[in-house]
Amino acid sequence: MPAIVPGRHAGKIAIVTGAGQGIGRGVAKRFVQEGAHVVIAEYNKANAESAAQELSALGPEALAYPIDIGDTAQIEQMVRDVVARFGRIDILVNNAGVLETLPLFDLTPEKWDWLQRVNQRGLFFCLQAVAKQMVAQVPDEVKQAGRADRSYGKIVNFSSVAGRSGRPYAAHYSAAKWAVISITQSAAAYLAPYNINVNAVCPGVVPTPMWDDIDKTQSARFGMQRGEWIKKTIESVPLKRAATPEDLAAAVSFLCSTDADYITGQALNVDGGIEMN
Ligand SMILES: NC(=O)c1ccc[n+]([C@@H]2O[C@H](COP(=O)([O-])OP(=O)(O)OC[C@H]3O[C@@H](n4cnc5c(N)ncnc54)[C@H](O)[C@@H]3O)[C@@H](O)[C@H]2O)c1
Repeated sequence: MPAIVPGRHAGKIAIVTGAGQGIGRGVAKRFVQEGAHVVIAEYNKANAESAAQELSALGPEALAYPIDIGDTAQIEQMVRDVVARFGRIDILVNNAGVLETLPLFDLTPEKWDWLQRVNQRGLFFCLQAVAKQMVAQVPDEVKQAGRADRSYGKIVNFSSVAGRSGRPYAAHYSAAKWAVISITQSAAAYLAPYNINVNAVCPGVVPTPMWDDIDKTQSARFGMQRGEWIKKTIESVPLKRAATPEDLAAAVSFLCSTDADYITGQALNVDGGIEMN
């Protein structure tokens, strides 16, 4: 179990999208345990509220913020609301995502657009809106110098091992997750003069509600019992276990810490060795 680093993010303001359940909730919990105030930017209002209630009990503030990140007007409003409430934004974790596995020939334009709207477009416009705010927080003399001697913000985007190699039953998802790596590199290069770090993480298999859906659909598709598809997938992981949300939260927390001030534009596989590039 990764160890919490008390005070590592003391007083920081972090937005975590899709933090109502699964990996995002684990990331938000770790930030709160390490001293950050967290905005739970989540589509499912009930889950946003239950996460906020659970995490607020740990000390720092956890704010439920129901939002559809596919809607750019809502994203811009969220940035205004968070700044009005907390005064600034230090960390953005672009974790929200959707997936419905589909054979290549069954992918429709509607299914394609539905997924890109959140996983690619939504992620990009969250990054853009928050990065504008982070740049606004950089003092003028630093802007004029074109370089900063400390970090003025950390952004972590959720890609996937499917962003490293294609997937026969998730071509739309794989395309979006490759795009996340490209967006990460473009943003890292653009924001480097302000010392705003932008990185991605690529999880492998993390049993969450998303994986529950994958297992249900893929097991049925291949005439297997429920649970067999995920079991088979986990057996193929070199480290021979699934990841936990805590494994991902540890990597994200590191990337958002001062220990990672000199790391930008990278995509870190957190996948038990599935991908080794
Ligand atoms: N679970 C895995 O094995 C795995 C592997 C690789 C990558 N990932 C990626 O990690 C991230 C988290 O995955 P998870 O397994 O926790 O998924 P999950 O489905 O359990 O949770 C995703 C969360 O995102 C929220 N969300 C979806 N659409 C949204 C929108 N439009 N606006 C705001 N919130 C929205 C959902 O309500 C949900 O709470 C995703 O980006 C996913 O693609 C997961």
